[in-house]
Amino acid sequence: MPTLATTVDGLKLPNPFVIGSGPPGTNGKVIGRAFDEGWGAVICKTVSLDASKVINVQPRYGRLRSRETGEIYGWENIELISDRSFDTWLDEFKALKDSHPDGVLIASIMEEYNKNAWQEIVGRCEEAGVDSFELNMSCPHGMPERRMGAAVGEDPVALEEVCRWVMEVATKPVWAKMTPNVTHIEDPARAAFRAGCQGVAAINTIRSVIGVDLDTLRPEPNVEGYTTPGGYSCQAVRPIALRMCMEISKVIETEYPGRTLSGLGGVETGEDAAQFILLGSSTVQVCTGVMKMGYGCVGPMKDQLLAFMEKHKFETIDDFRGKSLPYFTTHSDLVRRQAEARAAKKAEADKKKMIKGDAEWTGDDFVDQSDALARG
Ligand SMILES: Cc1cc2nc3c(=O)[nH]c(=O)nc-3n(C[C@H](O)[C@H](O)[C@H](O)COP(=O)(O)O)c2cc1C
Repeated sequence: MPTLATTVDGLKLPNPFVIGSGPPGTNGKVIGRAFDEGWGAVICKTVSLDASKVINVQPRYGRLRSRETGEIYGWENIELISDRSFDTWLDEFKALKDSHPDGVLIASIMEEYNKNAWQEIVGRCEEAGVDSFELNMSCPHGMPERRMGAAVGEDPVALEEVCRWVMEVATKPVWAKMTPNVTHIEDPARAAFRAGCQGVAAINTIRSVIGVDLDTLRPEPNVEGYTTPGGYSCQAVRPIALRMCMEISKVIETEYPGRTLSGLGGVETGEDAAQFILLGSSTVQVCTGVMKMGYGCVGPMKDQLLAFMEKHKFETIDDFRGKSLPYFTTHSDLVRRQAEARAAKKAEADKKKMIKGDAEWTGDDFVDQSDALARG
């Protein structure tokens, strides 16, 4: 009987399904609910020391639906980090560790480009009992104006410096969350590993414009007639997330063995999760999926992942983590492999046509049979 239980960076998780930072981890009440529903770990909505600067707008989401079924497959948000006070969060972290001592509680944190602020937020979250950290250096909207989020995440030098400040004081595992809004995700991932982070998480949302209303001619989501580019998530981003996770996993495999990857972007089923694990993820996060399907979706996801493991006779998550990575190569290598395979197939076919005795000559294949016996 396979098991979903897994240990990642010393954290003991009942399963690899983690609530990704966002509305599904936005206060103590919903985080408790996620633990009760059986999530392997919960990452809270990103917290900062001074929430008074965080002012959200309504509406702040825009969605794309299938023309045939109406199902939502793309989701843009212009939501900021948590607008709830840091002291309230600290009280809730403590209460959650009392009510759910075995629940793995991960603090998503973000601060301005300031060493004291980053080190203070780490220390105070640790005192409140959180089990580990995710550094949000990847929010594509709002925060860059304050030199936060993607402004840091898109600059590997700044990212490495922030990670070093955190690693100087953190006694719990640290994952740095990557922005996909870069040309080579390997560069910020390497910067986080150089700074000593145990893992990285990928991906945050992709900078996007969800659409333009053809009656009003205003772009969406429309806030008093205007908008700002937001972050794209949900099923539509999964192929991009898988590609970036593959690229980070190759860096881990060849340069930083033992470091970990938490994969996310469009996960809605156990089969989706299996693909992230096959490309090297140790855990798999879900954010928008929970907003579409509710906290209970972890039940079917666990069943689907177990069914996949049973089918392939994998006993543990580690048995198949990264198993599909060796099958990525260059395009020129694909061309070479295909030419070799075709030549081998032709040689085999020619061999079959080569008669071994005169009784095998047939009228229909006479010319081919003659060719097969010929040189030149
Ligand atoms: C409404 C919304 C709010 C989000 N807020 C945060 C946040 O506060 N911090 C963060 O690191 N990521 C945040 N994210 C990004 C998600 O954690 C995740 O990286 C991204 O949405 C891709 O995963 P998904 O397709 O499972 O949602 C948010 C996403 C959404 C949709």
